[in-house]
Order: sequence, then C-alpha cells, then structure tokens
Amino acid sequence: MKGLFITFEGIEGCGKTTQAELLADYFRQQGREVLLTREPGGPKISESIRKILLSKDNYEMLPETEMLLYMASRSQHTGEWIIPAIESGKDVISDRYYDSSIAYQGTARKIERNIIDIIIKYATFGLRPDLTFLIDLPVEKGLSRLKIGHIDRLEQESLEFHNKVREGFLKIAESEKKRYIVIDGNKTVEGIHKIIIKKVREYI
Ligand code: TYD
Repeated sequence: MKGLFITFEGIEGCGKTTQAELLADYFRQQGREVLLTREPGGPKISESIRKILLSKDNYEMLPETEMLLYMASRSQHTGEWIIPAIESGKDVISDRYYDSSIAYQGTARKIERNIIDIIIKYATFGLRPDLTFLIDLPVEKGLSRLKIGHIDRLEQESLEFHNKVREGFLKIAESEKKRYIVIDGNKTVEGIHKIIIKKVREYI
C-alpha cells in the first residue's frame, strides 16, 4: 500500500517545522515508516541548490532564476526521494512543497500563475499532497520569532513581501478546501498538534 504525502506550509516563523517533527514522531509511535523532509532540500543535489537559493551573497538573483531553482530542487527531491518513499509504503512529511512556490514566487514575486502551474506539474511528475496544513500567523509575529544573525535571503524581504506570501497561502487554501487545513498559529504547540492528529486519523 502507498504511503501518505503530507505537507506543511506557512510564513517564516509560523511553527510548521515543529509540527512536522511532532507528526513524524506520532506516525513512528503508531509503527508507521516515515520520511521527514523539507524544501528546498532533501537529497544532495537539492541541498546544493538550497545553498544557492538562501545565500545572501546572491542578492542579484532574478525572480525567474529563483523560481526555476526551487523547481529544479523540487524535481530532484520528488524523483529521488519522495515518490520512491510513497511507493514503498512510507508516509512522507515535507516542510514546504510546491504551494510555497505559488505563494512566494507567484503571489509575492508576481510570476504568472499559469507559468508556475505548468512548471510545478513538470517538476513534481504530477504528484500532489494528500493533505496540507497551513499554519497561519500574522507576519509580524512570525518574523519576530526568527533568530537574528541567521536571517537568509528570503527572510530579509520586507513586511509587505511576507504579507503577500501569507495572502497567497490563504488564497490557495480557499480554493482547495479538501486538501487544505488552515490552523491558527497563535494556538499552543500542543493545541495545534492535537488538531493535526485528529485530521490525520481520518486518513490512517
Ligand atoms: P527555510 O530556512 O527552510 O525556511 P522555513 O523554515 O521558513 O521553511 O528557507 C526556505 C525559504 O525558501 C523560505 O523563505 C521560503 C522559501 N521558499 C520559496 O520562496 N519558494 C519555494 O518553493 C520554497 C519551497 C521555499
């Protein structure tokens, strides 16, 4: 039997990484095999592309280059890790996936949605998450949680940029109600985890 594919999305500092880890722990306690991964990143080639994307030295990167690099990283990640894991029955939990490209490169960087959609389909081999959790939080609150001194190229963007990203995610969630669960990121870590478990139990 195929594994589940679950993704976590949201603005910087929303708490999705903690929740992805907690969900992976829960699955393992249930005796399920899990691949916990993240984007941009995963296999060696995707991690190399991640370094290029997040380096502050690359301030001159064009939106088009940025979008294609995220997609290149995703393509390798999906083909080398995610699809083989799902096929072998493992559940895959990814901290960000293609919705981040729609929100960051589409809504915030203003790359046309139809171009992004076509490249997503190509880069993911048509794979779609079974379930996506959006941890929604006001941008000021999310950014205030970031560690000063470790701010990357995307994190250093303006408040306006991050507000567009948030808006972008909420719009996707609105148009894909079956796949998306929006959770208020102001709730406690434990409270959010409980909501996630309740939803996931419908699928296992
Ligand atoms: P990361 O350090 O993993 O941040 P976070 O903990 O918030 O996920 O950095 C990933 C950055 O890349 C983050 O700013 C979001 C951005 N991003 C995109 O712009 N497009 C994408 O398709 C993906 C996957 C991430």
